[in-house]
Amino acid sequence: MPAADPRVLPRILSGMQPTSDSLHLGNYIGALVNWVRLQDGFDAYYFVADLHALTVPTDPAVLRQRTRVTAAQFIAGGVDPERSAVFCQSHVTEHAELGWVMNCLTADGEARRMTQFKDKVAKGQNANVGLLTYPMLMAADILMYDAAYVPVGEDQRQHLEITRDLAERFNTRYAAETLVVPEPYIVKESAKIMDLQDPTSKMSKTGSSPKGLIDLMDAPARIAKNIRSAVTDAEAEVRYDPETKAGVSNLLVIHSTLSGTSIADLESRFAGQGYGALKGEVADVVVAAVEPFQTRLAELLADPAELDRLLALGADRARGVAQATMARVRSAVGLLPAVREVH
Ligand code: TYM
Repeated sequence: MPAADPRVLPRILSGMQPTSDSLHLGNYIGALVNWVRLQDGFDAYYFVADLHALTVPTDPAVLRQRTRVTAAQFIAGGVDPERSAVFCQSHVTEHAELGWVMNCLTADGEARRMTQFKDKVAKGQNANVGLLTYPMLMAADILMYDAAYVPVGEDQRQHLEITRDLAERFNTRYAAETLVVPEPYIVKESAKIMDLQDPTSKMSKTGSSPKGLIDLMDAPARIAKNIRSAVTDAEAEVRYDPETKAGVSNLLVIHSTLSGTSIADLESRFAGQGYGALKGEVADVVVAAVEPFQTRLAELLADPAELDRLLALGADRARGVAQATMARVRSAVGLLPAVREVH
């Protein structure tokens, strides 16, 4: 049981899908920056959601490459793999097993009502059953580690709500306190980085135009160019107001999170100056964050054996927790223990 865990630090867990050749600035600011900060106060588990990525058909060689790059980007961004467990979801096979148990607790209509599923279907994505049950696998990821908090961006909030519902349902139906009900950890201002060309939509891998996106692997010149051409508004006042000044507010959030300067200080520093000055400085701040990241990433990718070693280390640690959770879950739901014959 979680209460008997001798570890002093509470656990946190989060994951990212390897569905692109690089993480983008939204993944970085909305999630990875917090992952790095939280390592100090928590026993942290960070994984590449490669099973989730199978919901979109991908060339196997491409998926393998993206999985490695995503894991390496966690580390390049500041996750310390000797301290926090960094691993691939598929290396801990218990995730799929607990995902099945979660599927069996979820009503068909409940799964079909999830916004991300409805949006993807509305956009014409050819939905498979994996896409429908995606949130139940995500619930399994979280509940497996007795996670107290889950650091994510705003777009994952509904998935965390269903995770909480499923944990409570499991505990009520089977055995009280078997699963820990997690809290989201969503930092209000930075939880939704917007598309630079369409600042009313979140920055995403499938956004409106490549100019709206900044990948962490982009060349500095491209980053600067995309920021310089970011859509703002017809006023010339640098003021944080996400409702009416979405573009400028987004630039202020990006600057503030990466530079550590408060938004109020930025507003007064840029008072009376046009947007050009703000954009120039945002570009400098992003490039200054991304350059050391890219150097470290290149080193990590140059040594795949070391990366695999780190992933094995993370998976071993994760498996220890996962096996203990699954033993509780199997017993609670009434699956017979597998007795091995001893010769
Ligand atoms: P994914 O891979 O889409 O995104 C990874 C993380 O980046 C955050 N994010 C953003 N934050 C701010 N602004 C944006 N524009 C932006 N775009 C993305 C996401 O909120 C997320 O934190 N379902 C998850 C992966 C997952 C998971 C889990 C997460 C699977 N199992 C268990 C937490 C716990 C996803 O697709 O994230």
